[in-house]
Amino acid sequence: MRALPTERSCPFAPPDGMADEPAGKVRISTGDEVWLVTRHDLVRQVLGDTRWSSQIDGGYYDQRLHAVEPMPGMFIQMDPPGHTRLRRLLTGRFTVQRMNRLRPRIEAIVAERLDALAEAPRPADLVALFALPIPSLVICELLGVPYGDREEFQRAGQELLRLDGSMEAVDAATMQLVAYLMELIGRKQAAPGDGLLDELLGSGLSDEELTGVAMLLLIAGHETTANMISLGTLLLLRRPDQLALVRDSPEAARTAVDELLRYLSVVDVGMYRRASADLPIGDLAAREGEFLTASLAAANRDPALCERPDELDVTRPKTPHVAFGFGPHACLGQNLARLEMEIAYPALLRRFPGLRLAVPLEEVPFRDNMSIYGVHRLEVDW
Ligand code: HEM
Repeated sequence: MRALPTERSCPFAPPDGMADEPAGKVRISTGDEVWLVTRHDLVRQVLGDTRWSSQIDGGYYDQRLHAVEPMPGMFIQMDPPGHTRLRRLLTGRFTVQRMNRLRPRIEAIVAERLDALAEAPRPADLVALFALPIPSLVICELLGVPYGDREEFQRAGQELLRLDGSMEAVDAATMQLVAYLMELIGRKQAAPGDGLLDELLGSGLSDEELTGVAMLLLIAGHETTANMISLGTLLLLRRPDQLALVRDSPEAARTAVDELLRYLSVVDVGMYRRASADLPIGDLAAREGEFLTASLAAANRDPALCERPDELDVTRPKTPHVAFGFGPHACLGQNLARLEMEIAYPALLRRFPGLRLAVPLEEVPFRDNMSIYGVHRLEVDW
């Protein structure tokens, strides 16, 4: 049986051979055999079907895949009805309209980060100074988590997303985050503020559930968007014609966001599912208890999804790509992520028209060892 592909001959393309079969079995690093689904229609079929259970742990950190009782509040790992209950509580708080109210604050945060970048010694790391602080500041403000506490959660959050970390390190990071958030929620109970977590205090969630929800939102909202901002900028720097469109045309800046999401698919095979019954995958059949992962990156380059899928075209009309997943677990924060990217890319490119990579592409540290792809650092000059 072949191994799950991980090597990339092009840093902006899915791992080599990922789409060799529409669906088939592969072996992952833990030794588990899993179904790998890569065709766009099949990916939507399995992700849209809750008989493919999300109550899974493992896949990372040398630990074999297994079914779990999810941690309270961690609804990404829950099936209905538990998932539905928590998701309903939050959906209305992440609509396009609600997110648009944040636009002035996000613009102000981006402007502050641009000033910080302008004042930094050159070359400067775009990840540390721009791409990571923006989603971090935004999600902290939205949730009501003090950004000054970021030392407490950023490093622990990174540990949870490593593919090569040990189980002990992951457990320690989880415990550190839980302790921090429990303490924060305790403080909020004594003196509520005006963040989303404060609003949720009176919504019937237990303290443990609220802690789990807080942990999920804090982690999910950080590295995903940060890596889209940094990897997307790097890709645009290599395609000056596309970069000029994003910089100069407000319309292209909007369409570019979904095209970059589709093209780069920073979340790829990280999400696992487990068959709760014998289930079809196209013409094939999975047995109850078997595990599955979907390559969002391969599905997003499926010729059935759009014309010339391997070409970046920032003016491309929006496609039904699956960069945010699909179905009941589709990304809750997608409207927020889109808004942050739509503001950040053109603002950066306009402020620094001479922006360029300060090291050869071969020296850029790509995140092959993380469940969210992107770059660890991005040294730029202007
Ligand atoms: C470009 C940035 C982002 C990408 C590419 C992304 C991608 C994804 C994907 C692929 C899933 C589906 C997981 C699955 O099916 O198991 C997901 C779920 C989720 N995302 Fe995002 N995400 C991004 C930004 C955000 C932000 C900013 C937030 C913050 C609020 C967020 C919160 C969540 C949550 C809470 C879930 C779980 C939803 C559920 O299980 O019902 N994401 N995301």
